[in-house]
Amino acid sequence: MSEDFPVPSVRLDEPRGEHILIAEDDPAAARILRQILQQIGYRVTVAEDGAQALRALDEGPPDLLLLDWMLPGISGLEICHQARERWDPLSLPILMVTAKTDPESVYAAFDAGASDYVAKPFRGAELRARIAAHLRTKRMVEERRRMEDHLRERDRLSTLGLLTSGVAHDLNNPLAVISAHAQILMRRAPDEGTSGQLREILDAVERCRRIAGDLLGFARRHPVEREPLDLGEVVRATLELRRRDMELHGLRTTVSIPGALPRVIADRHQMQQVFLNIVVNAEQALAGGGGRFDVAVETDAAREAVTVRFTNDGPPIPASALPHIFDPFFTTKPEDEGTGLGLAIGRRIVQEHGGEITVTSDAAGTTFTVRLPVEAMAVAGD
Ligand SMILES: Nc1ncnc2c1ncn2[C@@H]1O[C@H](COP(=O)(O)OP(=O)(O)OP(=O)(O)O)[C@@H](O)[C@H]1O
Ligand SMILES: [Mg+2]
Repeated sequence: MSEDFPVPSVRLDEPRGEHILIAEDDPAAARILRQILQQIGYRVTVAEDGAQALRALDEGPPDLLLLDWMLPGISGLEICHQARERWDPLSLPILMVTAKTDPESVYAAFDAGASDYVAKPFRGAELRARIAAHLRTKRMVEERRRMEDHLRERDRLSTLGLLTSGVAHDLNNPLAVISAHAQILMRRAPDEGTSGQLREILDAVERCRRIAGDLLGFARRHPVEREPLDLGEVVRATLELRRRDMELHGLRTTVSIPGALPRVIADRHQMQQVFLNIVVNAEQALAGGGGRFDVAVETDAAREAVTVRFTNDGPPIPASALPHIFDPFFTTKPEDEGTGLGLAIGRRIVQEHGGEITVTSDAAGTTFTVRLPVEAMAVAGD
């Protein structure tokens, strides 16, 4: 290295703890690189030879690979080749750092898939700038990919919405006819057996109506009525609806709601719908084991958001199901218990409010977190 890493006059993005893997066999060079990159704010791992570098890549790709060409064992060029079979240059930028500066070597490095090429001895400030520029591009690409995923998902949901709302709507009339006639027959039922069967018909009709109602709710796109809301109060009201059932099933519930919460601008009924589904899901999960249900509402230090956390110690959500639980119609429940729309609707509602809903699940329990931004400065209770 021919100089230190001064802060360049043109500011690139601040590092955000990105992970850089340095493959460098010269311990002194590796140490200095590590120190400096860590000081800047990157996470750094060092591999001292080719095999170590490949093992480190196997454990999960870093955000950027700083690759020495001449490594003991497997050469940097070979590592570059192998890495490119798995990750494209936008997912994993590879910077070749080498004393080989002849044009053939430069060509070979780019041909192997290197994103950039820095000749040794390099200027520290230049290397730093190149790293920052590649990471900036990577961040922008990731942002764009996320946005495209989001748009695709919205598209999928709106087509689904159009289809389902039509079907659900058409179901309501025949269901009303079945229900009315079953009720008339009930009154004239000659014996207990017949009226029992009719009751089952009515229960089934009721279930179909609920499903149709859920589908319509899912597809609905009308503007919602938003007002400054104390989310703590909405949580309390929701839990009150389920209190008796929870007591009946012997669930131990704790609720923590601070006194003065900043208000969020939200639709009360929609929020209640989101919370109710999470609470009912937890109750249903707790039927399979565990018995604790904890609800905590809080705001962050800057009072920019209100977070509601629902935790139960029931059986965890299997890792294979976890990525799908917010998908419409994904359910692990029997037909009469779930349609798999609860969380899909919930996520859409929360997103429409500018918030997010997330989940974690492991042996200790399952936590759903709903986070809504505070848009008004009002404080609940003022
Ligand atoms: N607290 C939880 N613990 C374990 N699994 C859960 C929990 N919450 C949700 N799940 C899983 O996520 C799936 C989807 O939940 P979602 O609320 O969307 O649908 P549902 O409860 O199955 O049906 P619906 O809400 O439409 O009646 C559930 O079937 C269940 O497998
Ligand atoms: Mg549900």
